Amino acid sequence: MLKGKDLLSLHDLTRDELEEILSLAAELKALQKSGVAHTILPGKTLGMIFEKSSTRTRVSFETGMYQLGGQALFLSSHDLQIGRGEPVRDTARVLSRYLDGVMIRTFAHETLEEFARWADIPVINGLSDLLHPCQVLADLLTIRERCGKDLSGLKLSFIGDGNNMAHSLMYGCAKMGIDFAVATPPGYEPNEKVVANAREDAKASGATILLTHDVAEAAKEADILCTDVWVSMGEEAEREKRRQDLAGYQINRSLLEKAAKRAIVLHCLPAHRGEEITEDVFEANAAVIFDEAENRLHAQKAVMALTMGD
Ligand code: CP
Ligand code: NVA
Repeated sequence: MLKGKDLLSLHDLTRDELEEILSLAAELKALQKSGVAHTILPGKTLGMIFEKSSTRTRVSFETGMYQLGGQALFLSSHDLQIGRGEPVRDTARVLSRYLDGVMIRTFAHETLEEFARWADIPVINGLSDLLHPCQVLADLLTIRERCGKDLSGLKLSFIGDGNNMAHSLMYGCAKMGIDFAVATPPGYEPNEKVVANAREDAKASGATILLTHDVAEAAKEADILCTDVWVSMGEEAEREKRRQDLAGYQINRSLLEKAAKRAIVLHCLPAHRGEEITEDVFEANAAVIFDEAENRLHAQKAVMALTMGD
């Protein structure tokens, strides 16, 4: 279903396609754990263009491609001619002649869209200022492992900045029938277009979407609590203002009391203890949070196998 397609946004996928990615990710994870080779992409090359820093995305894509029998090239935008002004559309057409797929981490989501318009190979969003779909695939895989395969009817709450993670979680939940609530301070609400798109998907899946400024209202009876940094990459100049504005939009013990009894806490990492999450809550949930980080590998292998496979 996904062969040759891009993965720029979870909103572009059907629910069946999402299910297909998650099921294959679980299968590939089991194969890898039992030491069974699964070289689905022999001889294939993934290019990985980074405009921003990364630990998980870079290492999980590179290792994942290796495990699938292919290879990955790390391409810093500072070292590419794109960093000296070569047009995105030319870079996309050139790289399409060498590579079988490309993963891009950009500031502007439009760069990713332009690249995808001109490329003949699958383009995977490794994070933009607007969205972070690969992270949410890993999150959904982790939720499946912890809460069972039927995700519909669960409630996921995001606390903090209405950022790329909030957007992709909203899309993922809306597609999968997970009730989604987000609590942000005034002025940090999620992007309106994303909310409108997600509401369309939610109509089809039966999920609900709640936007609030009240953390307790968002967290009420949640099965999954999520958060992310208050200061995303590229927003460093606003650090102090954001710290003041987002104070209180934190996952801590008293907020956890509002959630369901067995609620799990997810964090895409890197985490800033004492800001969006307290040290004790982070460490109490370390097992699931590091499963979540590991699941980047398995989810992305599934995406590469499905989009770049023969
Ligand atoms: N969560 C995540 O995308 O981590 P990196 O920035 O380290 O890739
Ligand atoms: N919102 C964060 C996510 C990091 C993985 C950022 O964009 O920096």
